[in-house]
Amino acid sequence: MSTSILPILPPHAGGQAPLRSGNGDAQPTIHIIHENDAWVVPLRAELDARGLPYKEWFIDELAIDLEAAPPEGVFYNRMSASSHTRDHRHAWEATRGLMAWLEAHGRRVINNRRATGLEVSKIEQTIALKQYGLLVPRSMAATGIDALRDAAAKWDGPFILKPNRGGKGTGVRLIRNTHELEAVIAEFGDYTLDGTVILQEYIRPADGRVLRLEFVGGEHVYTVSIDAGGGFELCPADGCQIGNAYCPADGRAQFEVLEDHKPEQLKQCLAFLKASGMEVAAMEAAPDAEGNLKFYDVNINTNYNAAAEARAEVKRTGMGAIADFLGRELQSVQAAAARAQRIAS
Ligand SMILES: Nc1ncnc2c1ncn2[C@@H]1O[C@H](COP(=O)(O)OP(=O)(O)O)[C@@H](O)[C@H]1O
Ligand SMILES: [Mg+2]
Repeated sequence: MSTSILPILPPHAGGQAPLRSGNGDAQPTIHIIHENDAWVVPLRAELDARGLPYKEWFIDELAIDLEAAPPEGVFYNRMSASSHTRDHRHAWEATRGLMAWLEAHGRRVINNRRATGLEVSKIEQTIALKQYGLLVPRSMAATGIDALRDAAAKWDGPFILKPNRGGKGTGVRLIRNTHELEAVIAEFGDYTLDGTVILQEYIRPADGRVLRLEFVGGEHVYTVSIDAGGGFELCPADGCQIGNAYCPADGRAQFEVLEDHKPEQLKQCLAFLKASGMEVAAMEAAPDAEGNLKFYDVNINTNYNAAAEARAEVKRTGMGAIADFLGRELQSVQAAAARAQRIAS
């Protein structure tokens, strides 16, 4: 059979032969779908430590033979909303099609097509979060410059402006006057990928810190408290840190793992994640003046800060939790494949 799929692979492919054909991959394995090599490094270490088989699907350009079946295994999707900022303009679009293909063939997909859609739409995230009973900042969506000017004119006071498709805090601004708004409008074509922005109530966190709730496989792993004083680009990945991540102002680290934190809204968060197909995800929230958590961002491509995990001496690291989860899911897929084989023979 001809080659069914030819993803462009990074130099490191988990010690496995490059994935070339859906036909030659009868043994179920873990497939990691991503577009940023640096963010996969800590996951590789955890998978290697457990001796788990895996392959990487680095997605930028992608060819799929839609007549062929995908390989067997567990597919873990880590496609990032900010992929376009790393010169992978269509990586997300490619992933959406890939998800449809995998799901059509009944493959086990972690962070599925619905999750992929939510990842790039703050509008849809906000609507879905509300549906599950979570508080969100007051928000307005605007597509196009005239609509943005219109919405801003109706808004009373300063507001947060952010691209509908976010990532790493890129483009998040506090708009206090017309001058600041017009500065964004002047570069609107580069500011937003889908022509759409969100105007949002500015939640000034009571203690200057926001929360990032980390979830893996339907479980809350831990919460990270993040000092939000240094701007809006608050990616926790080790690769995103510049210099020392300690905040000299109050002696607290910029990233602080709260291992025993149990959010009051845990039930709602888990229900939201389940309905969204988001099995490995981070939810971001800020406490308002009354102490109510308001949720403003959800990420399927989540990263962990190794230094913060080490300082907190966590019982399980984020990437460790993912590796364990992937191992369990692979076992289920392998057991199902073995059952199917027994029935067939
Ligand atoms: N409504 C808001 N009020 C206060 N701060 C906000 C608000 N929305 C975002 N932020 C700050 O900006 C950062 C980036 O915004 P976010 O919505 O998470 O965008 P991205 O998807 O790019 O990560 C957040 O971590 C938070 O510190
Ligand atoms: Mg965010």
